[in-house]
Amino acid sequence: MAQIVRFGVSMDAELLAAFDALIAAKGYPNRSEAVRDMVREAIVSRDWEQESSPGVAALCIVYDHDKADLPRRLARLQHHHTREITATLHVHLDEHNCLEVIILKGSPGKLRRFADQVISARGVKHGKLVMTTTGKHLH
Ligand code: NI
Ligand code: NI
Repeated sequence: MAQIVRFGVSMDAELLAAFDALIAAKGYPNRSEAVRDMVREAIVSRDWEQESSPGVAALCIVYDHDKADLPRRLARLQHHHTREITATLHVHLDEHNCLEVIILKGSPGKLRRFADQVISARGVKHGKLVMTTTGKHLH
């Protein structure tokens, strides 16, 4: 078990009130849990910036499958990244629109470039890359 350390934080009273309102609205049970999540979030963004450890990500896209051979172009892109793609979930939303969630693992730069290629493809209406981590060093 990891050792738990307590530490004190000095803060302007108004800033602390704003922090308490923020974490209450998000449903945090206490300040410690909120601070831990913020620290983890900062570590994950640093990892993605510095490419210091492998990234895990979920790329979520919505597209019209009737648009100019888009399904074929998307399939080709994915077949060129079989090492990075762990799984793909496809949902037919309605007559035309498809939702796809692509789970990725690998070097952050590579994952980001793949996501940019997919999101910028003609016919993709919306796309978002959620960048997270293998979690090993976050405790
Ligand atoms: Ni395929
Ligand atoms: Ni579909």
